[in-house]
Amino acid sequence: MIISSFPKFRRALLAWSAAHGRDLPWRRTRDPYAILVSEIMLQQTQVATVLSYYREWLRRFPDVRTLAAASASDVLHAWQGLGYYARARNLHAAAKIIVEQHRGTFPTSAEEIRKLPGVGRYTANAVATFAFDHSLPIVEANTARLLARLLNLQLRIDSTAGQQHLWSLATGLLPRHNAGTHNSALMDLGALICTPGQPNCPACPVREFCTAVHPAKLPLKKPRTELKQLTEHHSYIRRNGSILLEQSTDRWRGMWIFPRLANPPAAAPLHQSHFPFTHHRVALRIFKTKAPRGMAANQKWTKVEEVEQIAMPSPHRRALRELLAASAAGSCRNTSSYVNFNTR
Ligand code: ADE
Repeated sequence: MIISSFPKFRRALLAWSAAHGRDLPWRRTRDPYAILVSEIMLQQTQVATVLSYYREWLRRFPDVRTLAAASASDVLHAWQGLGYYARARNLHAAAKIIVEQHRGTFPTSAEEIRKLPGVGRYTANAVATFAFDHSLPIVEANTARLLARLLNLQLRIDSTAGQQHLWSLATGLLPRHNAGTHNSALMDLGALICTPGQPNCPACPVREFCTAVHPAKLPLKKPRTELKQLTEHHSYIRRNGSILLEQSTDRWRGMWIFPRLANPPAAAPLHQSHFPFTHHRVALRIFKTKAPRGMAANQKWTKVEEVEQIAMPSPHRRALRELLAASAAGSCRNTSSYVNFNTR
């Protein structure tokens, strides 16, 4: 793209977004805290899934002070089902930092925002541009694809050199004013027209500026690492209307799961399902076992009526619901399912 065409590009983009842009709840606010919440949720989760979590989160934790004062278990419970729980812990830690080090006032510069845990260049710029209308570039998955095609970029977008090209084009395209509207429009164009796979070029308002020869083949990316298979064994132990659960100390730190079994029993599992986790496909197997004599420090009996109030990761939550439904139906049938997370 040539620099002299940037103003015309911006006008075409803006006209398109006025007619076709998405009306999303985090675009109706200038509250930096609410915008940070949306951006952290959107880091690894699709818009459609985020919508209900975003509303419920703001109902439970309407401002930074409420979040900072909340317990870790309440925070994990509100995040339950979104996955990548480090995001919830970082958001909680960020709220505490804002209360303790900024007297509860959200920092206004991208440099300060970026010092918060879990916040990188994209997220800091997104909050600064959407909340404070700072003229700062953003590059995330949708805009990266769009910009790579505009440039006909033959470098991998996850390489340092590729990233430099994308950030520099995003910077060049920025208007001095109303950068938030411009940045939202870029994202929408990426999400709605310049889609992964076959983009809808005939409907694109900026096609005259695009240099892509084979847009469907762009952007280039590092090949995905192959999924590794993993099997995890856990026990299902019920006693007098309660169920034994254990607080995870690793992957799902702070959340409640079925107690781990070092060695699987010889019997068939009561429940089997699969779930993806980073570069793994995990087989979850749950066995009926006897109540232990003693209990580990991180284990507790939870009344069946109270299990919905505690934070459990989705694979264990789904297994528990299925097992409880099966026992309520009076059957001993096994529950097995394959589950695909809706994360991107
Ligand atoms: N609007 C603001 N930030 C967004 C994001 N990360 N994804 C989609 N729409 C957005």
